[in-house]
Amino acid sequence: MSNCTSASLRQMKAQGEPIPCLTCYDASFARLLEAAGVPVLLVGDSLGMVVQGWESTLPVTLDQMIYHSACVARGRRQALLVADLPFLTYSDPKQALKSAARLLQEGGAQMVKLEGGFSVLETVQLLTDWGIPVCGHLGLLPQSVHRLGGYRYQGRDAASAQRIREEALALQEAGAELLILECVPADLARSLRAALSIPVIGIGAGPDCDGQILVLYDLLGLNPHPPRFSRVFLQGGRDLAGAVRAYVEAVQSRTFPGPEETRY
Ligand code: KIV
Repeated sequence: MSNCTSASLRQMKAQGEPIPCLTCYDASFARLLEAAGVPVLLVGDSLGMVVQGWESTLPVTLDQMIYHSACVARGRRQALLVADLPFLTYSDPKQALKSAARLLQEGGAQMVKLEGGFSVLETVQLLTDWGIPVCGHLGLLPQSVHRLGGYRYQGRDAASAQRIREEALALQEAGAELLILECVPADLARSLRAALSIPVIGIGAGPDCDGQILVLYDLLGLNPHPPRFSRVFLQGGRDLAGAVRAYVEAVQSRTFPGPEETRY
């Protein structure tokens, strides 16, 4: 695998080459995922749920994100390291700049991800102006779980789909270099993929995205209540590396997600 950058991801999009992404929280898995052909490692604040055992991502702190990001940074060589800005560490642009700077300087991240649309545009612009690459996140926003009333699909009616569409275009305009779309109807994801020049990575957003992302522990079958858009790849006698390779191949051949994993 060659060095993965925003530019190489855009090239993959242009060439119609699906981008398999995974969450990652430590050095050993960073090495394994990279060797299995995963070009993008997301240190997601999902670690609050799958590593720390909380019911949401809200308790995760910036120091914890930096710790896990630095662990992944020591294991990776060429994969792009994206790290989440956790809850309320980017509530205004200046705070976001300080938080993102720590993720890059102390955590070795190469891009930061933040949730939201219109409310974070100024922040995305400021980070980008200071040379910090940004990944947007629209659709189901786990940090807003209490306002959303649970982990529910978003963009199901025309008005909310239109808002997500406008927010996606505005994020790209503000400088976002990658977009994660979580739990939205497949036709909305398909239209956004066509409308945006930046790569659109789906999770619970159907097969017609530029790439897919899963929470690593879901893929490994460690989640007792897996979301219906995920698939367990650690089965049929596969070892860990084999399971991750099977995921990469399924994304590349567009056999994941299938119809069963695309219901909403
Ligand atoms: O925190 C996370 O793992 C994420 C992914 C679900 C995209 O944001």
